[in-house]
Amino acid sequence: MNVRATPHGLEPIETASRDELQALQLQRLKASLSRAYNNVAHYRAKFDQAGVHPDDVRDLADLARFPFTTKADLRETYPYGMFAVPMRDIVRIHASSGTTGKPTVVGYTQNDISTWADLVARSLRAAGATKDDILQNAYGYGLFTGGIGLHYGGERLGMAVIPISGGQTEKQVQLIVDFRPTVIAVTPSYSLTLADELERQGLKASDTSLRIAIVGAEPWTNEMRREIETRLGVDAVDIYGLSEVMGPGVACEAVETKDGPHIWEDHFYPEIIDPDSGAVLPDGTEGELVFTSLTKEALPIIRYRTRDLTRLLPGTARTMRRMGKITGRSDDMLIIRGVNLFPTQIEEVLLRNPNLCAQYQLRVSRTGNLDELEVLVETQPSVGRVTPAQREEIERDVTHHIKSLIGVSVTLHVLDPDTIERTVVGKARRVVDLRKGDHWNGWRRKEGDHGACWFLSLPDVRSLLDKRALV
Ligand code: DLL
Repeated sequence: MNVRATPHGLEPIETASRDELQALQLQRLKASLSRAYNNVAHYRAKFDQAGVHPDDVRDLADLARFPFTTKADLRETYPYGMFAVPMRDIVRIHASSGTTGKPTVVGYTQNDISTWADLVARSLRAAGATKDDILQNAYGYGLFTGGIGLHYGGERLGMAVIPISGGQTEKQVQLIVDFRPTVIAVTPSYSLTLADELERQGLKASDTSLRIAIVGAEPWTNEMRREIETRLGVDAVDIYGLSEVMGPGVACEAVETKDGPHIWEDHFYPEIIDPDSGAVLPDGTEGELVFTSLTKEALPIIRYRTRDLTRLLPGTARTMRRMGKITGRSDDMLIIRGVNLFPTQIEEVLLRNPNLCAQYQLRVSRTGNLDELEVLVETQPSVGRVTPAQREEIERDVTHHIKSLIGVSVTLHVLDPDTIERTVVGKARRVVDLRKGDHWNGWRRKEGDHGACWFLSLPDVRSLLDKRALV
């Protein structure tokens, strides 16, 4: 691959000693906790209830005594209740999917926007980009933080930014050929769609001007990295972030090591906890990633449970610690082609159609490199079986609404009443994730040279035979 020399011109804090970094973190942590306590009634009530006060913090470890923040807190205070500054100081509002269809709202002051641009610029530089580069920004612009986040960071670094946003695959390829970008910011799945399109047009993807891909917003593996690098002829560098904590650029890999994103610890304090007990786990142990913002003004976020499962690793290219690849999530949020999605959002749209009922299931699979989402839903028992023409009309209408309201394309299957599996415990199984490594009723899917095969392990066969489920 095109590994470049170690980028120079780092900010002093990127290579400061752990002691220096921790001294800065402690000072900033106290200020951030005080800002939350003094300006946000919701935080004040929660801290009081837990019997903790920002003035009691002597050590970074004291943070563990403070309560967690979750999406539920942001929902309860929707839309602006967690803001720590008056509305006149807010200059930007973004939002990400919420479990009830109500989005999670994130606000920024002018200083927050500036810090964000600095940190994305730092991330891009870590990825090997310089002001001489041209950035094709294929992350979506809008309420999602990916597009505008990368845009401001690219400009801050002095790059020439092409704000094409996501989609329009043929146009993306045309610009890659004509504008000769050297860096592309893109989700992992979409990067491979672009590679497919380049090849379909008879172009050799690895012969383009691209040399770096800034890849994130959804989980991806090192195997996928190898594929992206080979097919696009780039160094594929992992960038991580989430709206509630800022957006892209909370952490990013260094191109010279590519060994997991360095968390920009001077602005975000990471912890790993046991998702069940909430106990803080030692570095190196897998658990749920939790962030506390150290400098944010508009939305100080204290011990935010990301639901992302990973572990903290020691610094390598930078003093700041790294995070391992995200191995999964501890909740039912799905990420389909970079779009965050909760089953309840689909449910809301389904139930707007009077013919459909709440018996539904989402099946996620992967064809090639793209996630596919199928939605199975039953008609209302009172409606019963519908004619093929009615079925087609419902499917057309509902898929259109899902696409326009949630932003994902799905295949909808309208089924007769009582056809979707019911579980013994009575808890609906909303999501069946058939992507690599996942299973469905004990069946495992394995990708082979000639497509996918389905396997059932011997113990599963025995148990199904015991339950007479296979006869
Ligand atoms: O996805 C911000 C972002 C945009 C990051 C562009 C990187 C590039 P949200 O829409 O709030 O924000 O989704 C955040 O996406 O909690 C993870 O589950 C997942 N995620 C983000 N980056 C990565 C990554 C943006 N590099 C959620 N690897 C997070 C794995 C990621 N998962």
